[in-house]
Amino acid sequence: MCPVRDGADRVSIRTPCKLNLFLEVTGKRPDGYHDLDMIMEAIDICDTIVVARDAPGIALTTDRPDIPTDRSNIIVKAAELFFAATGIAPRARFHLEKRVPVGGGLGGGSANGIGALFALMALYDAPLPDEEQFRIACALGSDVPFFLHGGLARCRGRGEIIAPLGSGAPRRFAVLVPPFGLGTAAVYASLEFPLTSPRRLGTISSRSVEERIRSGALFFNRLEDPAVKLRPELGALMRRAREVGVDAHLTGSGACLFAVVSSDFDRSHGGLVARALEGVAEVSIAGNLPAWG
Ligand code: C5P
Repeated sequence: MCPVRDGADRVSIRTPCKLNLFLEVTGKRPDGYHDLDMIMEAIDICDTIVVARDAPGIALTTDRPDIPTDRSNIIVKAAELFFAATGIAPRARFHLEKRVPVGGGLGGGSANGIGALFALMALYDAPLPDEEQFRIACALGSDVPFFLHGGLARCRGRGEIIAPLGSGAPRRFAVLVPPFGLGTAAVYASLEFPLTSPRRLGTISSRSVEERIRSGALFFNRLEDPAVKLRPELGALMRRAREVGVDAHLTGSGACLFAVVSSDFDRSHGGLVARALEGVAEVSIAGNLPAWG
Protein backbone atom coordinates (compact mmCIF):
# COMPACT_ATOMS: atom_id res chain seq x y z
CA MET A 1 0.00 0.00 0.00
CA CYS A 2 1.79 3.09 -1.22
CA PRO A 3 0.53 6.70 -1.18
CA VAL A 4 1.05 8.70 -4.38
CA ARG A 5 1.47 12.48 -4.22
CA ASP A 6 -0.57 14.51 -6.68
CA GLY A 7 0.73 18.07 -6.27
CA ALA A 8 1.51 19.61 -2.89
CA ASP A 9 -1.95 19.28 -1.41
CA ARG A 10 -3.32 15.95 -2.62
CA VAL A 11 -2.44 12.29 -2.09
CA SER A 12 -4.11 9.17 -3.44
CA ILE A 13 -3.74 5.57 -2.31
CA ARG A 14 -5.12 2.23 -3.49
CA THR A 15 -6.23 0.15 -0.51
CA PRO A 16 -6.46 -3.60 -1.07
CA CYS A 17 -8.25 -6.33 0.88
CA LYS A 18 -7.46 -9.75 2.37
CA LEU A 19 -8.46 -13.38 2.46
CA ASN A 20 -8.38 -15.62 5.52
CA LEU A 21 -6.68 -18.75 4.21
CA PHE A 22 -7.06 -20.23 7.70
CA LEU A 23 -9.20 -19.08 10.63
CA GLU A 24 -9.57 -20.98 13.89
CA VAL A 25 -11.18 -19.65 17.06
CA THR A 26 -8.99 -20.62 19.99
CA GLY A 27 -11.13 -19.22 22.80
CA LYS A 28 -13.73 -16.78 24.05
CA ARG A 29 -12.37 -13.75 25.89
CA PRO A 30 -13.78 -11.93 28.91
CA ASP A 31 -13.99 -8.72 26.78
CA GLY A 32 -16.51 -10.35 24.44
CA TYR A 33 -14.02 -10.86 21.61
CA HIS A 34 -12.64 -14.19 20.47
CA ASP A 35 -9.03 -15.32 20.39
CA LEU A 36 -8.10 -16.33 16.89
CA ASP A 37 -5.35 -18.03 14.93
CA MET A 38 -5.41 -16.90 11.29
CA ILE A 39 -3.36 -16.91 8.13
CA MET A 40 -4.21 -13.81 6.12
CA GLU A 41 -3.08 -12.80 2.66
CA ALA A 42 -3.50 -9.41 0.92
CA ILE A 43 -5.11 -9.49 -2.53
CA ASP A 44 -5.44 -6.88 -5.26
CA ILE A 45 -9.12 -5.99 -5.26
CA CYS A 46 -8.73 -2.33 -4.30
CA ASP A 47 -10.59 0.79 -3.23
CA THR A 48 -9.10 4.21 -3.96
CA ILE A 49 -8.86 7.00 -1.40
CA VAL A 50 -7.94 10.56 -2.41
CA VAL A 51 -7.28 13.12 0.29
CA ALA A 52 -6.79 16.88 -0.10
CA ARG A 53 -5.99 19.47 2.57
CA ASP A 54 -7.82 22.40 1.01
CA ALA A 55 -10.39 23.03 3.77
CA PRO A 56 -10.45 22.91 7.56
CA GLY A 57 -12.02 19.90 9.31
CA ILE A 58 -12.43 16.26 8.23
CA ALA A 59 -14.90 15.42 5.45
CA LEU A 60 -15.64 12.28 3.43
CA THR A 61 -17.56 11.57 0.23
CA THR A 62 -17.93 8.21 -1.52
CA ASP A 63 -19.36 6.79 -4.74
CA ARG A 64 -21.46 4.32 -2.69
CA PRO A 65 -24.52 5.97 -1.16
CA ASP A 66 -24.98 3.15 1.40
CA ILE A 67 -21.64 3.82 3.11
CA PRO A 68 -21.77 6.20 6.10
CA THR A 69 -19.58 9.29 5.76
CA ASP A 70 -19.84 10.48 9.36
CA ARG A 71 -17.59 9.67 12.35
CA SER A 72 -18.67 6.03 12.20
CA ASN A 73 -16.61 5.62 9.02
CA ILE A 74 -13.17 4.15 9.70
CA ILE A 75 -11.52 6.72 7.39
CA VAL A 76 -12.83 9.58 9.55
CA LYS A 77 -11.82 7.71 12.73
CA ALA A 78 -8.30 7.13 11.37
CA ALA A 79 -8.02 10.83 10.48
CA GLU A 80 -9.15 11.88 13.98
CA LEU A 81 -6.53 9.60 15.54
CA PHE A 82 -3.81 10.88 13.15
CA PHE A 83 -4.51 14.55 13.96
CA ALA A 84 -4.73 13.79 17.70
CA ALA A 85 -1.39 11.94 17.60
CA THR A 86 0.44 14.63 15.60
CA GLY A 87 -1.18 17.75 17.04
CA ILE A 88 -1.72 19.05 13.47
CA ALA A 89 -4.92 21.13 12.99
CA PRO A 90 -7.34 18.87 11.04
CA ARG A 91 -7.58 19.59 7.30
CA ALA A 92 -8.56 16.48 5.32
CA ARG A 93 -11.14 16.14 2.58
CA PHE A 94 -11.40 12.47 1.54
CA HIS A 95 -13.06 10.82 -1.43
CA LEU A 96 -13.48 7.03 -1.41
CA GLU A 97 -14.09 4.97 -4.54
CA LYS A 98 -15.40 1.68 -3.20
CA ARG A 99 -14.68 -1.50 -5.17
CA VAL A 100 -14.21 -4.03 -2.37
CA PRO A 101 -17.52 -5.69 -1.41
CA VAL A 102 -18.90 -4.51 1.94
CA GLY A 103 -19.85 -7.14 4.55
CA GLY A 104 -17.82 -9.67 2.60
CA GLY A 105 -15.15 -10.67 5.13
CA LEU A 106 -12.52 -9.11 2.85
CA GLY A 107 -11.40 -6.44 5.33
CA GLY A 108 -11.88 -3.62 2.82
CA GLY A 109 -12.92 -1.18 5.58
CA SER A 110 -9.92 -2.15 7.72
CA ALA A 111 -7.60 -1.45 4.76
CA ASN A 112 -9.34 1.92 4.23
CA GLY A 113 -8.36 2.81 7.83
CA ILE A 114 -4.65 2.12 7.23
CA GLY A 115 -4.86 3.70 3.77
CA ALA A 116 -6.22 6.92 5.29
CA LEU A 117 -3.43 6.90 7.90
CA PHE A 118 -0.67 6.29 5.30
CA ALA A 119 -2.17 8.96 3.01
CA LEU A 120 -2.23 11.56 5.80
CA MET A 121 1.33 10.75 6.90
CA ALA A 122 2.42 11.36 3.26
CA LEU A 123 0.23 14.45 2.77
CA TYR A 124 1.61 16.13 5.91
CA ASP A 125 5.07 14.58 5.65
CA ALA A 126 4.48 13.44 9.24
CA PRO A 127 5.43 9.77 9.62
CA LEU A 128 4.35 8.37 12.98
CA PRO A 129 6.60 5.88 14.80
CA ASP A 130 5.69 2.21 14.19
CA GLU A 131 4.35 1.80 17.75
CA GLU A 132 2.01 4.76 17.26
CA GLN A 133 0.75 3.40 13.92
CA PHE A 134 0.15 0.05 15.62
CA ARG A 135 -1.75 1.70 18.48
CA ILE A 136 -4.00 3.54 16.00
CA ALA A 137 -4.52 0.34 13.97
CA CYS A 138 -5.60 -1.59 17.11
CA ALA A 139 -8.01 1.20 18.07
CA LEU A 140 -9.60 1.00 14.61
CA GLY A 141 -10.45 -2.72 14.62
CA SER A 142 -9.28 -6.31 14.94
CA ASP A 143 -8.25 -6.86 11.30
CA VAL A 144 -6.65 -3.45 10.88
CA PRO A 145 -3.06 -4.12 12.12
CA PHE A 146 -2.57 -6.75 9.37
CA PHE A 147 -2.80 -3.94 6.80
CA LEU A 148 0.31 -2.28 8.26
CA HIS A 149 2.21 -5.22 6.71
CA GLY A 150 0.20 -6.91 3.94
CA GLY A 151 1.66 -9.94 2.17
CA LEU A 152 1.13 -13.18 4.04
CA ALA A 153 0.95 -13.21 7.84
CA ARG A 154 -0.15 -15.24 10.84
CA CYS A 155 -2.44 -13.15 13.04
CA ARG A 156 -3.39 -14.18 16.56
CA GLY A 157 -5.09 -12.67 19.61
CA ARG A 158 -7.98 -10.50 18.39
CA GLY A 159 -6.02 -10.34 15.14
CA GLU A 160 -3.37 -7.89 16.32
CA ILE A 161 -0.53 -10.27 17.24
CA ILE A 162 1.14 -10.46 13.88
CA ALA A 163 3.93 -12.70 12.65
CA PRO A 164 4.68 -11.58 9.08
CA LEU A 165 5.42 -14.46 6.69
CA GLY A 166 6.79 -12.21 3.93
CA SER A 167 5.38 -12.26 0.43
CA GLY A 168 3.55 -15.38 -0.71
CA ALA A 169 4.41 -17.10 -3.99
CA PRO A 170 2.38 -15.48 -6.80
CA ARG A 171 -1.08 -17.05 -7.06
CA ARG A 172 -4.55 -16.26 -8.24
CA PHE A 173 -7.85 -16.54 -6.46
CA ALA A 174 -11.44 -16.63 -7.60
CA VAL A 175 -13.46 -14.53 -5.15
CA LEU A 176 -17.18 -15.35 -5.15
CA VAL A 177 -19.31 -12.39 -4.11
CA PRO A 178 -22.92 -13.22 -3.16
CA PRO A 179 -25.56 -10.49 -3.36
CA PHE A 180 -25.71 -10.13 0.45
CA GLY A 181 -23.26 -9.37 3.26
CA LEU A 182 -22.94 -10.80 6.76
CA GLY A 183 -22.46 -8.90 10.03
CA THR A 184 -19.26 -9.97 11.81
CA ALA A 185 -20.75 -9.73 15.32
CA ALA A 186 -23.79 -11.84 14.31
CA VAL A 187 -21.59 -14.60 12.87
CA TYR A 188 -19.43 -14.77 16.01
CA ALA A 189 -22.58 -14.77 18.15
CA SER A 190 -23.87 -17.90 16.35
CA LEU A 191 -20.68 -19.84 16.95
CA GLU A 192 -21.42 -22.87 19.15
CA PHE A 193 -19.09 -23.83 21.99
CA PRO A 194 -17.44 -26.20 22.71
CA LEU A 195 -15.86 -26.30 19.25
CA THR A 196 -15.56 -29.71 17.64
CA SER A 197 -12.14 -30.98 16.47
CA PRO A 198 -10.04 -27.85 17.04
CA ARG A 199 -7.50 -27.23 14.27
CA ARG A 200 -3.99 -26.39 15.40
CA LEU A 201 -1.40 -24.90 13.07
CA GLY A 202 1.53 -25.54 15.39
CA THR A 203 4.83 -23.93 14.51
CA ILE A 204 4.87 -22.68 10.95
CA SER A 205 7.29 -21.04 8.53
CA SER A 206 6.74 -19.24 5.22
CA ARG A 207 7.81 -22.46 3.54
CA SER A 208 5.46 -24.78 5.42
CA VAL A 209 2.54 -22.39 4.83
CA GLU A 210 3.31 -22.31 1.10
CA GLU A 211 3.32 -26.12 1.03
CA ARG A 212 -0.02 -26.24 2.84
CA ILE A 213 -1.50 -23.67 0.43
CA ARG A 214 -0.26 -25.67 -2.58
CA SER A 215 -1.72 -28.93 -1.26
CA GLY A 216 -4.96 -27.24 -0.14
CA ALA A 217 -4.48 -28.57 3.41
CA LEU A 218 -4.38 -25.08 4.95
CA PHE A 219 -7.85 -23.91 4.01
CA PHE A 220 -10.19 -23.93 6.99
CA ASN A 221 -12.56 -21.42 8.53
CA ARG A 222 -14.29 -22.03 11.86
CA LEU A 223 -16.88 -19.35 11.00
CA GLU A 224 -18.12 -21.26 7.95
CA ASP A 225 -20.76 -23.26 9.87
CA PRO A 226 -22.28 -20.27 11.74
CA ALA A 227 -22.25 -18.20 8.52
CA VAL A 228 -24.08 -20.97 6.63
CA LYS A 229 -26.53 -21.31 9.52
CA LEU A 230 -27.32 -17.58 9.25
CA ARG A 231 -27.46 -17.67 5.43
CA PRO A 232 -28.26 -21.14 4.08
CA GLU A 233 -27.84 -19.73 0.53
CA LEU A 234 -24.09 -19.75 1.26
CA GLY A 235 -24.13 -23.54 1.66
CA ALA A 236 -25.99 -23.85 -1.65
CA LEU A 237 -23.43 -21.55 -3.30
CA MET A 238 -20.54 -23.67 -1.99
CA ARG A 239 -22.14 -26.86 -3.34
CA ARG A 240 -22.83 -25.27 -6.72
CA ALA A 241 -19.24 -23.98 -6.94
CA ARG A 242 -17.90 -27.44 -6.06
CA GLU A 243 -19.98 -28.96 -8.89
CA VAL A 244 -18.02 -26.80 -11.35
CA GLY A 245 -14.65 -27.62 -9.78
CA VAL A 246 -14.28 -24.64 -7.44
CA ASP A 247 -13.63 -25.72 -3.84
CA ALA A 248 -14.58 -22.43 -2.21
CA HIS A 249 -14.01 -21.41 1.41
CA LEU A 250 -15.38 -18.56 3.48
CA THR A 251 -13.12 -15.56 4.13
CA GLY A 252 -13.38 -13.93 7.57
CA SER A 253 -16.97 -13.90 8.75
CA GLY A 254 -18.21 -13.91 5.13
CA ALA A 255 -20.18 -13.62 3.03
CA CYS A 256 -17.51 -13.86 0.28
CA LEU A 257 -15.92 -17.17 -0.66
CA PHE A 258 -12.60 -17.85 -2.36
CA ALA A 259 -10.63 -20.60 -4.05
CA VAL A 260 -7.12 -20.78 -5.48
CA VAL A 261 -7.35 -21.07 -9.27
CA SER A 262 -4.87 -21.74 -12.06
CA SER A 263 -3.18 -18.87 -13.89
CA ASP A 264 -5.21 -19.64 -17.05
CA PHE A 265 -8.53 -19.84 -15.16
CA ASP A 266 -10.08 -16.97 -17.19
CA ARG A 267 -9.43 -18.78 -20.47
CA SER A 268 -9.96 -22.36 -19.27
CA HIS A 269 -13.14 -22.40 -17.21
CA GLY A 270 -13.77 -18.89 -15.86
CA GLY A 271 -16.72 -18.43 -18.23
CA LEU A 272 -18.25 -21.78 -17.26
CA VAL A 273 -17.98 -20.96 -13.54
CA ALA A 274 -19.41 -17.45 -13.98
CA ARG A 275 -22.38 -18.91 -15.93
CA ALA A 276 -22.95 -21.67 -13.34
CA LEU A 277 -23.06 -19.08 -10.54
CA GLU A 278 -25.05 -16.46 -12.42
CA GLY A 279 -27.61 -14.84 -10.12
CA VAL A 280 -26.08 -16.37 -6.96
CA ALA A 281 -22.57 -14.84 -6.95
CA GLU A 282 -20.29 -12.63 -9.01
CA VAL A 283 -16.83 -13.97 -9.70
CA SER A 284 -13.75 -11.71 -9.40
CA ILE A 285 -10.23 -12.88 -10.10
CA ALA A 286 -7.51 -11.45 -7.85
CA GLY A 287 -3.78 -11.94 -7.36
CA ASN A 288 -2.03 -11.96 -3.98
CA LEU A 289 0.05 -8.92 -3.06
CA PRO A 290 3.60 -8.79 -1.70
CA ALA A 291 4.22 -7.40 1.80
CA TRP A 292 4.62 -3.60 2.02
CA GLY A 293 5.65 -3.14 5.64
O1 C5P B 1 -12.82 -5.41 15.97
P1 C5P B 1 -13.95 -5.33 15.01
O2 C5P B 1 -14.74 -4.07 15.13
O3 C5P B 1 -13.53 -5.62 13.60
O4 C5P B 1 -14.93 -6.53 15.39
C1 C5P B 1 -16.28 -6.59 14.99
C2 C5P B 1 -17.02 -7.62 15.84
O5 C5P B 1 -16.55 -8.94 15.52
C3 C5P B 1 -16.79 -7.48 17.32
O6 C5P B 1 -17.72 -6.61 17.91
C4 C5P B 1 -16.99 -8.92 17.83
O7 C5P B 1 -18.36 -9.21 17.95
C5 C5P B 1 -16.47 -9.75 16.67
N1 C5P B 1 -15.07 -10.19 16.87
C6 C5P B 1 -14.77 -11.15 17.82
N2 C5P B 1 -13.48 -11.55 18.00
C7 C5P B 1 -12.48 -11.04 17.22
C8 C5P B 1 -12.76 -10.08 16.24
C9 C5P B 1 -14.08 -9.66 16.08
O8 C5P B 1 -15.67 -11.62 18.53
N3 C5P B 1 -11.23 -11.46 17.41
